[in-house]
Amino acid sequence: MSTFHDPCFDYQGGTLFAEDVNVQNIVNEFGTPCYVYSKAALVRQWQKLDRAFSDHPHQICFAVKANSNIAVLNILAKLGSGFDIVSAGELHRVLRAGGDPRKVIFSGVAKSKSEIAFAINSNIKCFNVESLAELERVQTVAEQLSAKASIGLRVNPDVDAQTHPYIATGLEESKFGITMDAAFEAYEAAKAMPNIHIHSIACHIGSQITKLSPFRDAVEKVFALVNQLKLAGIDIEQLDLGGGLGIRYKDEKLPSANDYIEVMLEQMRIANLDLPIAIEPGRYISGNSGILLTTVEYLKHNDSKNFAVVDAGMNDLLRPSLYQAYHQISNIQEKPTKAKKSYDIVGPVCESADVLAYDHPIDVAADDVLAIQSAGAYAFSMASNYNSRPRPPEIMVDDDQYHLIRKRESYGDLTSTESLLP
Ligand code: LLP
Repeated sequence: MSTFHDPCFDYQGGTLFAEDVNVQNIVNEFGTPCYVYSKAALVRQWQKLDRAFSDHPHQICFAVKANSNIAVLNILAKLGSGFDIVSAGELHRVLRAGGDPRKVIFSGVAKSKSEIAFAINSNIKCFNVESLAELERVQTVAEQLSAKASIGLRVNPDVDAQTHPYIATGLEESKFGITMDAAFEAYEAAKAMPNIHIHSIACHIGSQITKLSPFRDAVEKVFALVNQLKLAGIDIEQLDLGGGLGIRYKDEKLPSANDYIEVMLEQMRIANLDLPIAIEPGRYISGNSGILLTTVEYLKHNDSKNFAVVDAGMNDLLRPSLYQAYHQISNIQEKPTKAKKSYDIVGPVCESADVLAYDHPIDVAADDVLAIQSAGAYAFSMASNYNSRPRPPEIMVDDDQYHLIRKRESYGDLTSTESLLP
């Protein structure tokens, strides 16, 4: 069995290939650290979700925060994808990538007046509103623009997504969404606002969810609320059931796209509803569609540890440091497993937390290139310039071709927006 989670990355003749490209060729041309994405993997993952709906009316809105490169967004837009955004910057990216604003949902707890105005002027589909104060602000801005803004309320169904606490959002103590109790009154308030159109109801309970039961519990509660609203004369036109379906990082057993979508359709039948569904997947589509390549600078040993010091750090891939996340790391040259030793794979950043993997079994020598898996979501998009490290390039593989979709930053880029005092 391949050690790679996505079939678009695998060894051929002992060397790692991305689709039909030898990744060593990418390393030779662009150096490391460097991100490599597979177009075929992205398309397949999007289509798995799309097909799982069969003929049920639906809209997949890719969560831009997972991977916001415009080439990625453009590939998905061409498939018919919509987008879930959380900032005006993300909206700018979607428009720049050729995305259809009529398929854009604007989520997030802190939308500013100027962001709301930009989104209304761009004709987005819907705002997912997260508080009464925000609802009032959308009404005010829409009125100033003589526009009507479509909204959904993001409700918080108070279910435990059973994931890392930093990426669980559906519990009552979370800053996200409106409680179920408050939602009813908020919808009544929305109904009375002249520049607001009630479009949907939204819920997103967290990310990297590996079981179906939290989704089932959440939609059951949301659908009950939709029926209550209907009785009160408030008609919901669309159900936005968020993102959150997990992927394999290590050896997780995961529900299939079909099972995941079927849970929603089944609960909808039970609730006697028949409405279009939007979902906002990020990680499921892009997570295992990308890898991060990094070169071993030095091997270092002490009495208790072996260290492989690599040229990618927590500024390039924050997940291991921030969430203690596991990312599978392999040598791009296949080596006999019997020579594997345990290494802490550490980056160059001056922080003790700059560890990409602890006690990772790998056969490695200085100058070898390693592939860090599951780096297509929340990887480059969370990268920073900490320690004044230029951010890595991104490369998209398509069959036997590869394309630079973002240049490596230069030292000049690091200071280009700064200035000295006069
Ligand atoms: N919709 C909303 C409203 C969200 O907040 C999120 C993710 C998504 C959709 C997409 O969720 P996904 O399908 O990708 O699980 N940086 C963290 C993940 C943060 C997720 C934030 N919200 C990580 O690296 O694990």
